[in-house]
Amino acid sequence: MFKTLFAKLTMSLLFVFILIGILTLSVTFVATDLYQQEIMQKLNDKVAEHIVKETKIFKDGKIDYSVLRKLFRFLMVLNPSLEIYLLDHEGSILAFSAPAWKVVRLSVDIKPIQHYFSHQSILPIRGDDPRDYQKTKVFSAFPIPFKNGPDGYIYVILGGEEYDSIVERIKSSYILGSSLVVISLGFVVAFIVGVLLFSKLTKRLKTLARTVREFEQNPQDIPVSSEIKKSGDEIDQLTAQFQTMAEKIHFQLDDLQTTDYLRRELVANVSHDLRTPLATLQGYIETLLIKESELSQQQRKQYLQIAIKHCARLNKLVAELFELARLDASETKLSIESFNLVELAEDIVQKFTLRLQEKNIRVQVKYVTTELFVVADISLIERVLENLLENALRFVAEHGLITIALEENHQHVQIKVIDNGVGIPESDLPHIFDRFYQLDKNRHVESNHSGLGLAIVKKIIELHHSIIEVSSIPGRETRFSFTLPVGF
Ligand SMILES: Nc1ncnc2c1ncn2[C@@H]1O[C@H](COP(=O)(O)OP(=O)(O)OP(=O)(O)O)[C@@H](O)[C@H]1O
Ligand SMILES: [Mg+2]
Repeated sequence: MFKTLFAKLTMSLLFVFILIGILTLSVTFVATDLYQQEIMQKLNDKVAEHIVKETKIFKDGKIDYSVLRKLFRFLMVLNPSLEIYLLDHEGSILAFSAPAWKVVRLSVDIKPIQHYFSHQSILPIRGDDPRDYQKTKVFSAFPIPFKNGPDGYIYVILGGEEYDSIVERIKSSYILGSSLVVISLGFVVAFIVGVLLFSKLTKRLKTLARTVREFEQNPQDIPVSSEIKKSGDEIDQLTAQFQTMAEKIHFQLDDLQTTDYLRRELVANVSHDLRTPLATLQGYIETLLIKESELSQQQRKQYLQIAIKHCARLNKLVAELFELARLDASETKLSIESFNLVELAEDIVQKFTLRLQEKNIRVQVKYVTTELFVVADISLIERVLENLLENALRFVAEHGLITIALEENHQHVQIKVIDNGVGIPESDLPHIFDRFYQLDKNRHVESNHSGLGLAIVKKIIELHHSIIEVSSIPGRETRFSFTLPVGF
């Protein structure tokens, strides 16, 4: 029923107000009651003394009950709220002013009376009410000397029976009644103000809840708060934090979508690149099987050679994909060591000698000193240089030149692989490190290449916390460069 925060707050406020109300009323009643009794007792302090001093109660050493009765009657007519009793020294009631059937006690407690006579006592002091077994009331008392025994007391109960009930008291007091009305009105006004304040506060929470709901339904739209006060109260801070969180989620979603798109593209590319050599392989092997008798020895050999070529291509593709996956998963724990870069470069060039000679291409390894050491994973750097060299070799015309320049620069060694081949158009430069990216895809369909070489290079350099850069002048040269920390 009370699901909303506003309803809960209002109910709590109501509860608190009722509690405070009850407390205030109780305190008011008790306080006014005590005050009234104190005043009454103070004002009537001398009543019992006057009775004792002004009248002749004793005749021949005995109490003259006829005088006493006359006095009682006279005083009751004068002030009906007074009830007068004559007590002996132990508190037993000897005579009283009321009708006989009204007095139920035979004696009253003497202690409050003695307490009343001590000067330090704080008023009001309540004594037993002879008209009721349970009740106590304020009184006035004065000792009266008995000739043949210890002193007795004149004991006057003040206020009488009329003021007994609270309702009676409120009814009888205009001030008490009107104070109650004012207090109640004050409570009602304060309650209304409280409810209004709560509604203002919860309204902001409601707005925030709505924004969160909207964002949940449509996370593409970042909720824009008109004014975000980071230094404001908790609700403001919550709003600001939600805004930041929503932005983060939004960008992460974007990221996820991009990754998802790339993944799908990768799967499509992989399937395509696997399908082509597989289909060709299957075609040639089937032809060999079906037309075996019709084919010449030379044709058979040619078909088998084509089949082997596609097998090799498949092999290379799968190996490259596997390598990339391994590098991606960061499974590759780099085995970092210090090694001689000049030696490594010379070794790699050595491996390419045959193919270089076929195309009449010259490779120069440039360095200042042969004692050039770097700290890196030697087998991965070998892979990088091989891939770069293998690309350069493919895109350089006959009699071309490839340069591997190794330069020490402060604490780093800069490695450049430069070729004077076809170059790369500026618009393609940002993409050549992407997986499966090839400038002229058609040209490569029948070749042994799938566009993964530079993606592997980039990944390896990143694993070494470095970056690879590329620049090119189309038709003139292409230049790849990266740095590695100097070794020892
Ligand atoms: N030195 C270069 N000169 C001109 N173009 C280049 C050079 N190096 C790379 N490219 C271009 O960048 C593309 C991507 O190169 P990458 O090495 O990633 O793939 P690939 O060599 O085609 O295939 P793979 O390396 O998997 O055998 C190449 O297809 C080519 O178009
Ligand atoms: Mg390559």
